[in-house]
Amino acid sequence: AADPRLQAISDAIRVVPHFPKPGIMFNDITALLLRPAVFKDAVDMFVERYRGMRIAAVAGIEARGFIFGPAIALAIGAKFIPLRKPKKLPVAFTNLKGEVISETYILEYGTDCLEMHVGATEPGERVVVVDDLVATGGTLCAAIKLLERAGADVVECACLIGLPKYKNFYKLNGKPVYILVESR
Ligand code: PRP
Repeated sequence: AADPRLQAISDAIRVVPHFPKPGIMFNDITALLLRPAVFKDAVDMFVERYRGMRIAAVAGIEARGFIFGPAIALAIGAKFIPLRKPKKLPVAFTNLKGEVISETYILEYGTDCLEMHVGATEPGERVVVVDDLVATGGTLCAAIKLLERAGADVVECACLIGLPKYKNFYKLNGKPVYILVESR
């Protein structure tokens, strides 16, 4: 039987038609954040899954992976790695090259990029990638590549919301994607 918490999580996600562009159905998690019991249920479900899996780091994707990732990381005793949009991570003047690695990915219109501090993860560390939503999977693929370039062992990607195809062991770059609820 499905976990009873999933229905409340799904109900708390607001679907906003035609945002940010005509034709897009935006799945908005801000309404869920206003309901602490449901917010906690969502975090708890990830914590229950990853506790005991020897996860060294939770990597959160800017921006909404920064809302859920740290709560999960603290609860399982892992560090938190922010994967940021370009030019947000500080680099020392004396070492402009080599402190940050980036991975560019293709969007519907144009490209975007994720960056990580070199040294945020050690080779062989077991990492879970967290975001609010997976649509095409382009963002998560870039995150996986970035972490693997640094030698991390990406165990799984975790999102609150995904297209129906992500239910039941869908894989991205060979890595499982775990989602709580389907996007509407
Ligand atoms: C959304 C979402 C994911 C990404 C998923 O972020 O939070 O990060 O899109 O899409 P994909 O699976 O097709 O790659 P958005 O691009 O809106 O960026 P933001 O978090 O900076 O607003």
